[in-house]
Parts: sequence; structure tokens; C-alpha cells
Amino acid sequence: MGALVLLVGLPGAGKSTFAAELKKKRPDIVVVSSDEVRKYFFGVVFEPKVEKQVWSIVHSAVIGNLKLGKTVVLDATNLTRRSRYKWVRWAGWFKKPVLAVFINPPLETVFKQNAMREKEWVVPEEEMRKKVMILKVPQMEEGFYSVVNIEKADEESVKKVIEELEKIEGETFEKRKIVQVKQ
Ligand SMILES: Nc1ncnc2c1ncn2[C@@H]1O[C@H](COP(=O)(O)OP(=O)(O)OP(=O)(O)O)[C@@H](O)[C@H]1O
Ligand SMILES: [Mg+2]
Repeated sequence: MGALVLLVGLPGAGKSTFAAELKKKRPDIVVVSSDEVRKYFFGVVFEPKVEKQVWSIVHSAVIGNLKLGKTVVLDATNLTRRSRYKWVRWAGWFKKPVLAVFINPPLETVFKQNAMREKEWVVPEEEMRKKVMILKVPQMEEGFYSVVNIEKADEESVKKVIEELEKIEGETFEKRKIVQVKQ
């Protein structure tokens, strides 16, 4: 029972918005957000000194809830293959399928949404450009059960993800062959 949903998207793409919409329709789902862990446990938006501890808490929350048979949504950017591979491997140990949801509005929209956020959450433009460069589109060969591409959080995209989840949540999943993992 249960699955892991990896959200993938640039800062400001709408991941947290999507997670909140999904949770409205599926209150049983647990959303784990790296931003909320930073804020709640350390009172920071981002601070390199505690990144290791942040990810240790995120890891415990995700794996613990998977062990309880829950479906978990990881709300983090997950931009690189390397960052996603870890989750595919960990979920695989518990035989849980992983669904990637790529939130991919036009870049112009992402930059605009980032700039319009509450001040402390705005990622500097230069940092945003770096992130655009490292973003790798999630592919099935990374070991996902499926990859859902959406432009924004709306009723249709939430429905699409719930439908995908319903196909896989009840199954015990055998590890998928991972063809290649590069940054
Ligand atoms: N579908 C949408 N329509 C209009 N505004 C949106 C939509 N999705 C997100 N936004 C707005 O864009 C901003 C960024 O969205 P959100 O916080 O969900 O992004 P994020 O991907 O979680 O970013 P981060 O990675 O930095 O946490 C927010 O102010 C949000 O209200
Ligand atoms: Mg967010």
C-alpha cells in the first residue's frame, strides 16, 4: 500500500500549490516539504549550515510514512537525476512505486510567480538561472512507475495524478530496472 510522489519543478513553478490542491482531494496523503522543515525546525528559508539536518528530517518523514503504508508527496525541487535517484532507490527498498509529477509552466510564468511571492521566499534571478540550467526533465528510465507532466495546479491535473495514484497504490511493486543515472 502507498506510493511516493516526487514533485519536480523550479522554485515558483507551483509545487506547493499543487500539493495543497492534491491534499484537498486526498486528505489521507502526507505532504513532506523541505521548505516547511527548514522553517518549522530551524526558522530559516535556506541556510547551508543546517541543510544536512533538514534532509535527514525529510528522509525520516518520507520513509517513516511509506513504512506506515501511506502515500507521500515530496514537495522539493528534485531537479537533478541524482537527487531523484536516491528517492527511487529508498522507495524501492520498501517496494513502493514512485510517481514523478513534473510541474512545468512556461519559464516566463515561473519567473513571474517567483518574483511575486512573499519577499523572503523569492529566489534571486541569478540563482533561478542556475536552476534552469541544472533541471533535467524526469524520464521513465530513472525507475518511475510513471511520469505525469502538468502545466499548473488545476482540477484536471489533480485528477490526472489521482488517477495514476489509484492504479498503483494497492500494489506491491517490484524494483524497476534503472537504465542510467547521471546528474
Ligand atoms: N496555478 C497557479 N495560478 C496562479 N498562481 C499560482 C499557480 N501556481 C502557483 N501560483 C503562485 O505562484 C507562487 C509560487 O507557487 P508555489 O509556492 O506553489 O511554488 P513552488 O514550486 O512550491 O516553489 P518552491 O520550490 O520555491 O517552494 C505562489 O505565490 C503561488 O500562489
Ligand atoms: Mg514550495
